[in-house]
Amino acid sequence: MADDVVKRVRTRHFANAKQQGIKITGLTSYDMLTAAIFDRAGIDFLLVGDSAGNNVFGYDTTVPVTVDDLIPITRGVASAVKRAFVIADMPFGSYETSSDEALHTAFRFMKETGAHAVKLEGGVRSAEQIRRIVAAGIPVMAHIGFTPQSEHQLGGHVIQGRGDSGVEQLLTDARAVEDAGAFAVVLEMVPSEAAARVTAELGIPTISVGAGPHCDGQLNVWTDWAGLTTGRIPKFVKQYANVAQVLDEAAKAWAADVASGAYPTPENSYDG
Ligand code: KIV
Repeated sequence: MADDVVKRVRTRHFANAKQQGIKITGLTSYDMLTAAIFDRAGIDFLLVGDSAGNNVFGYDTTVPVTVDDLIPITRGVASAVKRAFVIADMPFGSYETSSDEALHTAFRFMKETGAHAVKLEGGVRSAEQIRRIVAAGIPVMAHIGFTPQSEHQLGGHVIQGRGDSGVEQLLTDARAVEDAGAFAVVLEMVPSEAAARVTAELGIPTISVGAGPHCDGQLNVWTDWAGLTTGRIPKFVKQYANVAQVLDEAAKAWAADVASGAYPTPENSYDG
């Protein structure tokens, strides 16, 4: 949706982008420094994902992540952007039991972080929560297909939406979240053809996380394509940088200069 005249991305820009066939771009961000870089690069939205569990907090999954974990890092991201739309991810256990609980969590993110919207996982099962949050004036991005918070129930990182019944389930979930008022829906790890069907049928934009090229936008976990992730890199990720190598070389050069006395020089020191 890159467009210099858009001063601040709003939900209407997501809708316009779908209508005009302009691709929407999104990246995760977990801190103010990368948020400012991605914002200047013209990325349309930043998701403060509960993938912070794997990328910030050292967990194996997103399951242990809490609202209190995500509030301060979401605030950092929101404080650093001028144009990008910032979406706070509602973590596992913060919205499932009732729409009251979901609304309470959404209110916390909106009041305490400066985020512009929230995201939550689930189609039909989360429709009531989405409806309630939207009715309170908070934009919701939905998330269907592979939903990492349910990875133990789904049997690991398993592609969703395969076969006739898989596609039907995906369509049912997609219709439910659109009907509930979501402004966009993430489709994670579903076959391209299934994502194309959902994209053609829905009025709201579909955002692909490993759902192929036919979606209205793409979202990636930035550490995956930046060469920082040390664990499993999904097949749908393409490498764009090797930040780990850059930092490794810089850290070794700095330590060698300290050892040899080449750093600090008088230019890096204060006079009496
Ligand atoms: O937390 C996250 O980064 C996500 C994306 C993978 C959609 O939910």
